[in-house]
Amino acid sequence: MKITIRLIVSLIFVVALVAVIFSFQQVRAEKTRLIGELERRAIVLAESIGESVKPLIESNSLDKLNRLVERFGNRERLEGVAIYDSQGNILASTPNLALKISKPLPQIISSITENRPIHSFLNIAGKEISLYTLPLSQENEVMGALVLFHDASYIDVRLKGIWKNNLIRFLTLTMLIVVITLLVVRWSVMGPIAQFADWMRELRLGKGKSSQPNTSLRGDMLAPLISEVTHLAKSLSMARARAEEEARLRVRAESIWTANRLKEHMRVELGGKKLFLVSNREPYMHVKDGRNIKCIVPAGGLVTALDPVMRICDGIWIAHGSGDADKEVVDTDDKLRVPPEEPAYTLERIWLTKEEENGYYYGFSNEGLWPLCHITHTRPIFRLEDWVYYQKANEKFAEALLKEIADEESPLVLIQDYHLALLPLLVKKRRPDAKVALFWHIPWPNPEAYGICPWQQEILIGMLGADIIGFHTQFHCNNFLDTVDRFLESKIDWEQFSVTRGNYTTLVKPFPISVSFDSFSDKLSAFQEKISLRETILKEIDASVKYLGVGVDRIDYTKGIPERFRAIERFLEKYPEFVGKFTFVELGAPSRTHIKRYRDLTTVVEEMVDKINWRFRTKTWRPIVFLKAHHSHEEVNHFYKASDICMVTSLHDGMNLVAKEFVASREDEDGVLLLSQFTGASRELKDAVIVNPYDIEAVADAIYLAITMEADERSERMKRMRTVIKEHNIYRWAGNLITELARLRTADVTN
Ligand code: G6P
Repeated sequence: MKITIRLIVSLIFVVALVAVIFSFQQVRAEKTRLIGELERRAIVLAESIGESVKPLIESNSLDKLNRLVERFGNRERLEGVAIYDSQGNILASTPNLALKISKPLPQIISSITENRPIHSFLNIAGKEISLYTLPLSQENEVMGALVLFHDASYIDVRLKGIWKNNLIRFLTLTMLIVVITLLVVRWSVMGPIAQFADWMRELRLGKGKSSQPNTSLRGDMLAPLISEVTHLAKSLSMARARAEEEARLRVRAESIWTANRLKEHMRVELGGKKLFLVSNREPYMHVKDGRNIKCIVPAGGLVTALDPVMRICDGIWIAHGSGDADKEVVDTDDKLRVPPEEPAYTLERIWLTKEEENGYYYGFSNEGLWPLCHITHTRPIFRLEDWVYYQKANEKFAEALLKEIADEESPLVLIQDYHLALLPLLVKKRRPDAKVALFWHIPWPNPEAYGICPWQQEILIGMLGADIIGFHTQFHCNNFLDTVDRFLESKIDWEQFSVTRGNYTTLVKPFPISVSFDSFSDKLSAFQEKISLRETILKEIDASVKYLGVGVDRIDYTKGIPERFRAIERFLEKYPEFVGKFTFVELGAPSRTHIKRYRDLTTVVEEMVDKINWRFRTKTWRPIVFLKAHHSHEEVNHFYKASDICMVTSLHDGMNLVAKEFVASREDEDGVLLLSQFTGASRELKDAVIVNPYDIEAVADAIYLAITMEADERSERMKRMRTVIKEHNIYRWAGNLITELARLRTADVTN
């Protein structure tokens, strides 16, 4: 504003100066003109009267002179006429005039003595009077003078009029200048500057969509400035992109992500924002144990991976309360702080009816989508009523989540897995500002396999509500993009790996999940620990063998448990020197037992164990110990540490965290991992003994290779695998996913 006032004052000052100079000159010229005109009129009149006056002065005819001056005395603006003798004494004058000029006037005396006409001005009784004195002479001798008195006050009036008019003009001009200056400044300067400033602010905050300002600004008076700043903006965006890329590279290159680093990263990157995580499976489940209630950690990779992240991020984890004592331990909002021994985040439980659980969880999720995504030759079953419950349950999760995020600005939401494929769109429709990631923990099939799903489009559309969809591997991302390409009208960007539908884009990226490396280590001497653990375990399973193998699974047909046992049987057949020396312990957690396929599998597995043990057992030894139970994290860890080999023979698996847990637990840098080539983990753990679980002969040989492997090679392989897991741990997974999500600009999915 200051500058506007300065501009206006300067303009007014200049205009005033010009106006004063101009008016002054105009007044001067007008004055000269009017005086000249008056003088000319007086000369003409004086000369015409003078000729008649001369003889009368000569003859001293005062009466006649008086009559004469009276006759001329009442002309326009003529105040009067007077006649003087050569001494300057008045001979005759217009009545009243004599009173006003009783004394001889010096200019009249001068005119008579110098014998020249004189035009002068005199103020008589407050009136400006013009005096024209014409000496009257006869043969060069002055006989008197004729004086004409004209009223000259009109000249002053005229000149004042000019000043007044010019003042009015000046004031009008001033007003116009003020108004026009204000308008020009507002429209052409302040407006563009404000727009320009907005554009620059957006650039600075990294929100600017364009490195060029709005077109209306270009070509304006700010053009040179804009061109410079546009260059600057480009450099800034490039520098920012470079810094982000460097940060990304640093994140990728910096080897160790720890819980503390993730915590600090969350604080800096998200300003301490909470995380909202939604999954079907809850991280802590309360179950009745006689008259007591105990808290167990459900088996499965999802919980293993995400619980350490939530402990760091302190957010809300919304999940199905499926434990039979779950309702007894929550508060009135269905919440409780977990883990029970060291509360760090909030678990909110959703309650599902029996029908909902049957249709949504057992039916559509686990009899439909699970076998659809895992290529294990188990037929998916799709029932309309299951689909209806699946939609209802997703809506129930959405309602709970929307309530929680109601007061959060741009909340970060991490949705987990195939149970909640419709949730991203349900959330985004109501909260377009939410930043939503969907992480798919299981494989994604190719379009042909996916194509048998009757609700193929609805599921894809629901998933594409997310800003980011994460899979474990690039291969699953590619399958997903191919599937979308096949079944939905959309634009796939194969460079960015994104899907655009309407205005809305979803990134599809691999985020290989992992474990918290440190959770598997303790401060005991690894070697000592191994020896005593092994003794305890062997005692527990009533075995006394040289070689111990372990398998840890939910009892699920995707895990290749029968194939594994068949391979062990073949190994003992092929390498009989290991009979009595090698025992394999299977820690099998019962899973989804309301589904017939799972019950049948348990029967098959139990029968196989019986059959193989019957075939090879001795009085003191059996080849397979099948511990069908829910095992705690600690128990499992003990088996990992005490074993020589760990077998992961999944027929198809998104990642398989058992493989990573085994490696993380081996602080002694010993032990061999047999790993199915059909797991996501096999892409990272190249030093495992990679097997095709369908090839029984090869797996049997692999067991032999693992058991007889030299200690040095075992150690080298384990060291390398441990480096991989140490660096690519769950904190890195979370750091990458959350950073990517937090930095996204959200668009409206409903457009
Ligand atoms: C897999 C799924 C998880 C699931 C886990 C255990 O890892 O990807 O979503 O939680 O299995 O299965 P459950 O049916 O017991 O939750």
